[in-house]
Amino acid sequence: MQLALLRSFIACALASAFLASAQAQEKVVNLYSARHYQTDEALYSSFTRQTGITVKRIEGKEDELLERIRNEGANSPADVLLTVDAARLAVAHEMGLLAPVRSKLLEARIPAHLRTDDWFAFSLRARVIVYAKGAVDPQEVKNYGDLANPRLRGKLCSRSGSHPYNLSLLASIIAHQGEAKAEEWARGVVANFARAPKGGDTDQIRAVAAGECGVALANTYYLARLMRSDKPEDRKTMERIGVVWPDQKGSGTHVNVSGGGMLKTAPHKEAALKFLEYLASDEAQRHFADGNNEWPVVAGVKLGNPALEELGTFKADKLPVGSLATYRAKAQLIFDRSGYR
Ligand SMILES: [Fe+2]
Repeated sequence: MQLALLRSFIACALASAFLASAQAQEKVVNLYSARHYQTDEALYSSFTRQTGITVKRIEGKEDELLERIRNEGANSPADVLLTVDAARLAVAHEMGLLAPVRSKLLEARIPAHLRTDDWFAFSLRARVIVYAKGAVDPQEVKNYGDLANPRLRGKLCSRSGSHPYNLSLLASIIAHQGEAKAEEWARGVVANFARAPKGGDTDQIRAVAAGECGVALANTYYLARLMRSDKPEDRKTMERIGVVWPDQKGSGTHVNVSGGGMLKTAPHKEAALKFLEYLASDEAQRHFADGNNEWPVVAGVKLGNPALEELGTFKADKLPVGSLATYRAKAQLIFDRSGYR
């Protein structure tokens, strides 16, 4: 009887060991993605054609995905996490979800200020100032600092101060100028609100075009999307607004990232690394630019995006992405204290 039990125990152990190794060798990468861009589909199928590795994608809201990975624990099927915003990638790091990744290829292709030990930026978006033509003089809104100037009283529209895009911008201001100056800025901006913060970046752009406010902040890919739109109302919106690259004589325009990393518990580590390296390839980099109107992180990639071309070149802030993470919590406290909700 005991022998029979032992036999069945051994059989079970063998079967589960076999299953685990089969899972590890399976040509698949489980991707948890918070990038909500339809165009990414083409990117993944091209990776599969080149490597034979299937991309199984689970999409979700940024914070929900992180929560899900944490709850799944050691059994999580997640291999790679892709998300937008440095502050969110930092949260994944702080939660201890990411595995340190050493890759000569990633280190050679991605500039040092756009990567950390366990996550990498794969594309860039700039946060620019949008103003109403004819109503606001662009000379008066050349820098982020100008948004706090009392001459813009009642003229500024904004999305919530809790949104990672604004948190990362404030984190960059803390990194460059210190907490006191950053708080002064946040209070000045709040004093200039035309209305309580609401909506996304595109809503702010439309509000500026509609004359509801004179100035707003927006990420460049939202602008490029409107520039490439065939809809007459989008064309009208773009005719009514102007775009300023802030801080060109100072530290440069704040850029945020879209990026990702490998999970500590990834069952397919080899495939995950291949996938991350693929995202830094010329082809994938071009895709980020042409498909979602973001800038590549890899230098010298040829683009075919008329909207990015029209937006032109600018001096980008070279602050290491890790610093945006460092000051994220402080940025939230400052926004809370300043009433930037
Ligand atoms: Fe966005």
